[in-house]
Amino acid sequence: MRTPIGVFDSGFGGLTILKELHEKLPDYDFIYLGDNARTPYGTKSFDVVYTYVKEAVNKLFSMDCPLVILACNTASAKALRNIQQKDIPLMPDPTKRVLGVIRPCAEIIGTLTRSKHIGILGTTGTINSNSYPIEIKKFFPEIQVSQLACPMWVHLVEHNEYNTESGRHFIKQKINELKAKDDLIDTIVLGCTHYPFLKNIIEEFVGPTIKVVAQGEIVSDSLVDYLSRHPEIDSRLSKSSHTSYYTTEEATNFTEKASRFLQKKIQAEHLIL
Ligand code: DGL
Repeated sequence: MRTPIGVFDSGFGGLTILKELHEKLPDYDFIYLGDNARTPYGTKSFDVVYTYVKEAVNKLFSMDCPLVILACNTASAKALRNIQQKDIPLMPDPTKRVLGVIRPCAEIIGTLTRSKHIGILGTTGTINSNSYPIEIKKFFPEIQVSQLACPMWVHLVEHNEYNTESGRHFIKQKINELKAKDDLIDTIVLGCTHYPFLKNIIEEFVGPTIKVVAQGEIVSDSLVDYLSRHPEIDSRLSKSSHTSYYTTEEATNFTEKASRFLQKKIQAEHLIL
């Protein structure tokens, strides 16, 4: 019987995390679930995001995942704490675990910046939650954090519109806005898992002096470390190098796009939450 690691996102973004998880944990089994039918989450209220994420986590638990990664900053910012502290203790199996993507980045960000001035780009939900400045302050109180919401960017990724004239215009506009907030920024964190799809274009606009950081590697390193510290979870995870893919939208488009991004042929299935 397979007992995979569940990887959840509102849509395609979590694939940027999954790709690195495959690199770092090649033996493990995974289930990827994208709620493409209800994306974007970033512009939705706290209660709506919390309800959607809870549904997804329950579904992944019911599919035998002992551990779920919220590969989505908006979900991590708005739902993770409640799920960890209120919901899991009341579940039939309270030993299952859910982890997010914000804390692993906050823990190491101080090692990436020299100027100690960083920028965070994310969805409106993530930025308004202030999760990044709050978490970063716990580890690196000296770091100056400037944040900016980029509400259009998830749409550009979900609909493949980022490498168009208007897509590039929206991206450039936001980069300039962030740079204008603090000209000492030397590191920009892509605080939305959809944004690494735009990384090449972002790098073109920020220029060579600013480092653009995607979360995949950070999150996968952090998970490797977590599993080494939690053998009681690690021993429950099956390891047959198998990944299943589910989307709440129509499966053909997901199959095509995920296969292109992961550079291997995958087959997604439709699932109703
Ligand atoms: N990929 C998600 C994140 O990291 C959110 C995208 C959305 O707005 O649905 O925040």
